[in-house]
Amino acid sequence: MKVGFALFLVLLVSVSEAKITKQNIGNFLRCLRSRTSPLNPITEALYNHDNSTFVSTYVSYTKNKRCSNPNDTNLIAIVAAKHESHVQETVVCAKSNEIQIRIRSVGHDYEGLSYISSVPFVILDMHNLRSITIDVSNKKAWVQAGATLGELYTKIAEASKTLAFAAGVCPTVGAGGHISGGGYGNLIRKYGISVDHVVDAQLVDANGKILNRASMGEDLFWAIRGGGGASFGVILSWKINLVEVPETLTVFKVNKTLEQGVNDVLYKWQLVSSKLPRELFLSAMPQITKGAKSDEKTIAVAFSAQYLGSAEKLMAIISKSLPELGLKREDCNEMSWINTTTFWADFPVGTPTSVLLKRPLEPPGAFFKSKSDYVKKPIPKEGMEKIWKMMLKFNNVWMQWNPYGGVMDKIPANATAFPHRKGNLFKIQYFSFWNDANVTDANLGSMKELYDVTEPYVSSNPREAFLNYRDIDIGSNLSGETNTEEAEIYGSKYFLGNLKRLMDVKAKYDPENFFRYEQSIPPLRAM
Ligand SMILES: Cc1cc2nc3c(=O)[nH]c(=O)nc-3n(C[C@H](O)[C@H](O)[C@H](O)COP(=O)(O)OP(=O)(O)OC[C@H]3O[C@@H](n4cnc5c(N)ncnc54)[C@H](O)[C@@H]3O)c2cc1C
Ligand SMILES: *[C@@H]1O[C@H](CO)[C@@H](O)[C@H](O)[C@H]1NC(C)=O
Ligand SMILES: *[C@@H]1O[C@H](CO)[C@@H](O)[C@H](O)[C@H]1NC(C)=O
Ligand SMILES: *[C@@H]1O[C@H](CO)[C@@H](O)[C@H](O)[C@H]1NC(C)=O
Ligand SMILES: *[C@@H]1O[C@H](CO)[C@@H](O)[C@H](O)[C@H]1NC(C)=O
Ligand SMILES: *[C@@H]1O[C@H](CO)[C@@H](O)[C@H](O)[C@H]1NC(C)=O
Ligand SMILES: *[C@@H]1O[C@H](CO)[C@@H](O)[C@H](O)[C@H]1NC(C)=O
Ligand SMILES: *[C@@H]1O[C@H](CO)[C@@H](O)[C@H](O)[C@H]1NC(C)=O
Repeated sequence: MKVGFALFLVLLVSVSEAKITKQNIGNFLRCLRSRTSPLNPITEALYNHDNSTFVSTYVSYTKNKRCSNPNDTNLIAIVAAKHESHVQETVVCAKSNEIQIRIRSVGHDYEGLSYISSVPFVILDMHNLRSITIDVSNKKAWVQAGATLGELYTKIAEASKTLAFAAGVCPTVGAGGHISGGGYGNLIRKYGISVDHVVDAQLVDANGKILNRASMGEDLFWAIRGGGGASFGVILSWKINLVEVPETLTVFKVNKTLEQGVNDVLYKWQLVSSKLPRELFLSAMPQITKGAKSDEKTIAVAFSAQYLGSAEKLMAIISKSLPELGLKREDCNEMSWINTTTFWADFPVGTPTSVLLKRPLEPPGAFFKSKSDYVKKPIPKEGMEKIWKMMLKFNNVWMQWNPYGGVMDKIPANATAFPHRKGNLFKIQYFSFWNDANVTDANLGSMKELYDVTEPYVSSNPREAFLNYRDIDIGSNLSGETNTEEAEIYGSKYFLGNLKRLMDVKAKYDPENFFRYEQSIPPLRAM
């Protein structure tokens, strides 16, 4: 779909990459060495293929084995910045030598766009910059880009029993990518998403300058809240508002199969889940499970909930709004907010919260592929049947149906660059994983088929997608290029009506399109 607004093309960006030579690379490395300060020498942060720890530095932060390639000959070096000046030096030297960078905080990008490129490139890795400071009395925190959500959650809980942050469920996700892409989690119905609580940020721009909210201006500050940081600069840190939670929350997880009548429960769930009290987040996860006979498969839906209150009150809400679930008191677990974060990360109740702090991360174990959709009217039961039939063709696929509503209906779509707000019943995440490279093509093919089956039931014109669930199939360009027409295809799905302003901000702050990648925002000024 083309974005429907009149544009005067001041800049037509479809640059064929000038060939990167050995000379560019040599000049880049010399530039780094000449600019580095003796106090914070960049050599301590610079890895090339000859360093004995190059491969481990690379793979520790490549979550998806499908994209991870330590032997990538396009990868010139990794700068694992230990100091902010290393970030500035890398930007200045890469730009002046026409070398692309990929910014990586913790490498959870679903398509590996923080660590791959089809032209020569340098990874600017932020994992060493991960300090977190909590200011309990003002309910604020500064968090550096390389911190993980698990580290942030732990620091908050150490400082207060009744403060939390609205962000994702996976403790190893990085603050740099996660927050700039929106930051979806189970406090969404009460508090919205991460970008709704960002009050300041530090960023290195295309000139290598460090800016904060006041010096970058409201346009750029708006863009990095949901537009993805990597089109605009390198996020060094975020200043966030912490949100209030009770000392005791309640969680549960209940399964039901098709044979146990889950279709009726899930249909009803579609009608009520976005209208429940904001304190309740009730998600549904359709997945494949063993059937009655050992050689049979069926669909089970796991319903997982988090309630900002007691089990007793939660029981009362469910028995009124979704009695079909058959929830029992013993299914419910009361616990602190920090303990709910291990529950959502799929650790058994009682697991020590130290699991949230695992570092360094392990080399990627699995290959995976994900896609997303937004649902605005209930999927009819016959549609659900079609989806299950398709899912049963896979060995290893699941979906997450994550409810919207609550405060998401109240926040204007243009308040931040993240546009998916009012009118969504829920968001779907599709996720398939496997352990053998031989079946990659087959799995990618099955994912496309599943996405085709759901098409009649989800948002259209455009078919919306969530930036944090990066999906290269919805449109992309080769690394060396940014084609505006192509960018309007993926951009309109990720950003809807906010795309125009994002392109305008991009043109203002990075007119030469230094910060570009396969799904970046092109610099294009509307007049
Ligand atoms: C297991 C798992 C669970 C997840 N759960 C959730 C969830 O609950 N909710 C949710 O919203 N998302 C979730 N995600 C998606 C996740 O939020 C995104 O993949 C996010 O971009 C990861 O951030 P990162 O810094 O780890 O990734 P990276 O791969 O390092 O970066 C992702 C993108 O952001 C850019 N970027 C990274 N750091 C910076 C920076 N400092 N400055 C500018 N640009 C930067 C990269 O260039 C890339 O384009 C999950 C992902 C995984 C793998
Ligand atoms: C990588 O190797 C080079 C050359 O031996 C060395 O100067 C540099 O300090 C090493 N980098 C790191 C991060 O150890
Ligand atoms: C990278 O190359 C090494 C040495 O040639 C090889 O052993 C290894 O399997 C390769 N790794 C990948 C992921 O291709
Ligand atoms: C729900 O079903 C899944 C898939 O069979 C299984 O892995 C999980 O343990 C079940 N959970 C509960 C709470 O029964
Ligand atoms: C949180 O979990 C820990 C570890 O299992 C447990 O010891 C503690 O009692 C729990 N606290 C709360 C309030 O849930
Ligand atoms: C956001 O949208 C509202 C309503 O459409 C409009 O009045 C407002 O000017 C917009 N704000 C920005 C910053 O575009
Ligand atoms: C993958 O395919 C290759 C080549 O066909 C074969 O040699 C290998 O055994 C297969 N691997 C697995 C795990 O099946
Ligand atoms: C890039 O843009 C062009 C023009 O729209 C398109 O034909 C192409 O498929 C895009 N994608 C890639 C990967 O080049």
